[in-house]
Amino acid sequence: MPRKSSIGLFTAGLLLAIALLFFSCRAEQNRAQGPVTLVFKHGKLAGGPEALREILSRFEAQNPGIRVKDEVLPASTDEQHQFYVINLEAGSAEFDVLSMDVIWVKEFARAGWLRPLDDVFPPEERKDFFRGPISAVTFRGSVYAIPWYIDAGLLYYRKDLLDKYSISPPRTWQELVSTARTIMEREKDIYGFIWQGKQYEGLVCNVMEYMWSRGGGLIDEDGSFNALKEENIDALRFMYDLIHTYRVSPPLVTTAVEETTRHIFGSGRALFMRNWPYAWNLFEKEGSPVKGKVGVTVLPAFKGHRPYATLGGWQLGVNRYSKHPEEAEKLVRYLTSYEVQKEMAIRMGYKPPRRSLYRDEELIRAQPFIVRLYDVFEHARPRPESPFYMMITQVLQPEFSAVITGIKTPERALRSIQRQVEHILRMEER
Ligand code: GLC
Repeated sequence: MPRKSSIGLFTAGLLLAIALLFFSCRAEQNRAQGPVTLVFKHGKLAGGPEALREILSRFEAQNPGIRVKDEVLPASTDEQHQFYVINLEAGSAEFDVLSMDVIWVKEFARAGWLRPLDDVFPPEERKDFFRGPISAVTFRGSVYAIPWYIDAGLLYYRKDLLDKYSISPPRTWQELVSTARTIMEREKDIYGFIWQGKQYEGLVCNVMEYMWSRGGGLIDEDGSFNALKEENIDALRFMYDLIHTYRVSPPLVTTAVEETTRHIFGSGRALFMRNWPYAWNLFEKEGSPVKGKVGVTVLPAFKGHRPYATLGGWQLGVNRYSKHPEEAEKLVRYLTSYEVQKEMAIRMGYKPPRRSLYRDEELIRAQPFIVRLYDVFEHARPRPESPFYMMITQVLQPEFSAVITGIKTPERALRSIQRQVEHILRMEER
């Protein structure tokens, strides 16, 4: 017995010595390798990368042991999603911090691809954020990302043209049509109303705004999925009519994304545009053909109903497979801080999800219209909140596209959506 235990002791000692040697070599190696490099993946941001580069350089200056490489993905949310699914599914550690659309965080959290951030983003701090993005980053009681910037659909209009004809911005969709027709008859070569109608995620965001502002929607109050109803039929028919009956929206909207419409409106060729808040700063830039001529307001509603904007926006999380999780968390905290969110709003036009910034005097001075956005963000409505949302939207996108291009009637599309989504939701129950 004693012999055995002394051998045991010896082995344990030997193992400890080997472990110590190993760790001290690792530490030596780390020192020799110099600073940690974090890879930060995010979609292409509009308006040039300089401001973000400066923001990241400041982080590096404050954290001499960390370098940040920012790697840009295409602007399209659908393409970014595809990149992450392929890489995270394979356990890739090639990026540390990632920017995620509101619609994916639950899916990624459920798949185990994100590091929970409850400790670095405590409940007291969450209270300052709009409810929509907080709900988007929460899954089974934990938070998996911190909101970076918030989006909601807005109506941009040519103030100069509405003033010229003494017409106020439309409050109903019907008014928008009549104003657009009046001005299109008098002004040459101007589109009435442009929006995002390509078969992609942006189309779903647009469609939801018509459904909600007609008193419809996809989810009933009791939480059940219910696409096929009169209000939704009317909303979709109206979108079709904008292009094919009233002809205030050109057929090109059926292939347009955010940037297509922003470029057209920004070059002075459209009266109304639906878009996210980022476009405003770009219209006001030196040299912009529409500088000083643009107004922005809440989207119209159908007569007798209230308007709604779709909630969008992006959140920062840490890759579960990152080799530098603590440094990555530090970067996420920094990029979502009060100061950085304020700078991104002023310099890049991306709006803060922190509510206290809507009382920040410097920010209000720079962007007086931000005060009015507070209510829009507070009441912006989410797309169906589910870890299976991407499967649902893969059903919605082609059906909605088929309606606005005249291939399917709204009834047929909604019936088909109902059948397919019910199937997906049955999977969710399992
Ligand atoms: C914006 C929104 C995002 C939405 C996307 C659709 O990036 O922030 O939530 O999914 O547009 O194109």
